Amino acid sequence: MEQDYRVEKILYTQEFIENKIKEVAQWINETYKDSKDLALVGLLKGSILFLAQLIKSVKVDHTIDFIVASSYYGASKSTGTIKIVTDLAHDIKGKDVLIIEDIVDSGITIVKVIEYLKTKQPTSIRVASLLNKSAKRKVEFTPDKIGIEVPDLFLIGYGLDYQEKFRNLPYIGILKKEFIKD
Ligand code: PRP
Repeated sequence: MEQDYRVEKILYTQEFIENKIKEVAQWINETYKDSKDLALVGLLKGSILFLAQLIKSVKVDHTIDFIVASSYYGASKSTGTIKIVTDLAHDIKGKDVLIIEDIVDSGITIVKVIEYLKTKQPTSIRVASLLNKSAKRKVEFTPDKIGIEVPDLFLIGYGLDYQEKFRNLPYIGILKKEFIKD
């Protein structure tokens, strides 16, 4: 696989990631086999590649919607405040909601998003996260389904960005130090 010159190391190859995504899809097919109304809710923008790859293997009928939640509005992430920048387009009342995330880090974003979505009265609400960085957790939370448990490193690729770039890399890796500007 061709490696971007700014990438120090590839941690997870496309093949490895996509095999893990197939496992997540199998979990969805099993968990929601009796569901009448499954809504996948992608948390933008990190989840785009994961969601696109995931639904190729999801056999249960479902709808797709998106939500944009930002934790960077005028404060650092550690304040634990998030803002719903773009809300869902469709009603989720009475539906089984599965939130699709790229990574759960401190857990603050996902816990707040769940809290918010619960006010819309879905029948159930679960989370599938491609990556889980439990070492960084600040609030208690475990996704219902995890693709890969990752070490405490700054990761880019497969949806994950550094300053909004590198989401397009088909693998997950770490940046070379000289390309990290502070
Ligand atoms: C990233 C990621 C998660 C969140 C995880 O989103 O996609 O949503 O941070 O961090 P946390 O568990 O510490 O809250 P970000 O706000 O960077 O937006 P993005 O999806 O557009 O990259």
